[in-house]
Amino acid sequence: MAGGIAAYKACELLRRLTESGHDVTVVPTSAALEFVGAPTWAALSGRPVSADLWSEVHEVPHVRLGQAADLVVVVPATADLLARAAHGLADDLLTNTLLTARCPVVLAPAMHTEMWEHAATRSNVATLRGRGVLVIEPAEGRLTGADTGRGRLPDPAEIFATCLDVLSRGTTASDLLGRRVVVSAGGTREPLDPVRFLGNRSSGLQGYALARTAAARGAEVTLVAANTDLADPAGVRVVRVETTAELREQVLVAAVDADAVVMAAAPADFRPVGVSGAKIKKADDGSALHLELVQNPDVLHEISTRRVRPGSVVVGFAAETGDATGAVLDLARAKLARKGCDLLVVNDVSGGAVFGQPDNEAVILAADGAVTDVPRGTKAALAHVIWDQVAARLRP
Ligand code: CTP
Repeated sequence: MAGGIAAYKACELLRRLTESGHDVTVVPTSAALEFVGAPTWAALSGRPVSADLWSEVHEVPHVRLGQAADLVVVVPATADLLARAAHGLADDLLTNTLLTARCPVVLAPAMHTEMWEHAATRSNVATLRGRGVLVIEPAEGRLTGADTGRGRLPDPAEIFATCLDVLSRGTTASDLLGRRVVVSAGGTREPLDPVRFLGNRSSGLQGYALARTAAARGAEVTLVAANTDLADPAGVRVVRVETTAELREQVLVAAVDADAVVMAAAPADFRPVGVSGAKIKKADDGSALHLELVQNPDVLHEISTRRVRPGSVVVGFAAETGDATGAVLDLARAKLARKGCDLLVVNDVSGGAVFGQPDNEAVILAADGAVTDVPRGTKAALAHVIWDQVAARLRP
């Protein structure tokens, strides 16, 4: 942990890591101890805490800590820490640990926008990423004092999710580094009047898992999120939308320079012909309300057929139950052809809806004929298989 005001947020990350059964040794810089004292770190981690190279020297901690770790995560990483790490300096226990670590390294920077955007920091971040370090993009928002901008530490719960992701893969291998991807998530809402809307039950969990895992694999991610109630994934640019028209617009804008577009959202297929400016009243005689709905554009079809960026990979989702006209996979194959996408992730929902569940299972159909069965597992695990399939189809 380096010396920034966001050090207090690292307490929550530490707590989540220890409560989920991980052994954590906290290595603060001396500046970090100005923000949060050693007793706090020691109590939360259940281990002694030291910042300098001259304590417990007989145990050779400057070498042992890095060698023994499965993951080194620095939260917050200051501009100074990034510079020292990029140049291989080793003037305290933290930078020694970074030099001796052979495990995945995750840095979560937090600083003022000017420092983050400075050419020196840009170059240090590029150097570190080039060496395989996962440097999480800071979030935009309120900074210390009155300013706002890029440089905020992402939500600690989301940094935790990224750490678990990296630990489960055992690597920060960034096969999507330098790639831009767009993911849509959630369910759109079509307003009827100032208080009512037509919507659906999509939770956005699968789309968020896709965004989080793409960022952990090095991609620059835009998440177009419709009406979700989830924390922004670490290192992801989040654009919020409500209706299918807004979702379409934002996906099309982001798709212009994207290498891949994954449509995990559930856009409403219909919207009311008109939105009432005043609240619609029920009739005294109990008579029915007749709503006229028009079809919304099919964003996936449009993205697939227009390919705003030639050569980009487009992924759709399909929830199918099978019916009299065909079995789940037959209907899905027809949908893949109709939509014109490269990959279709098919959920068999005949046994009930998957909305809001932490797990998912799917079959991924490819336009080139490949079929990939993904057994029941976490939404993050499915997300990784989807990115494997996308990565294999990206232009060199
Ligand atoms: N989708 C879209 N725009 C819409 C509706 C759906 O881009 N207006 C995308 C979803 O994000 C998802 C896929 O299309 O990737 C899901 O298609 P689905 O709604 O299941 O297909 P439909 O064409 O509506 O077919 P069905 O007749 O089975 O409902």
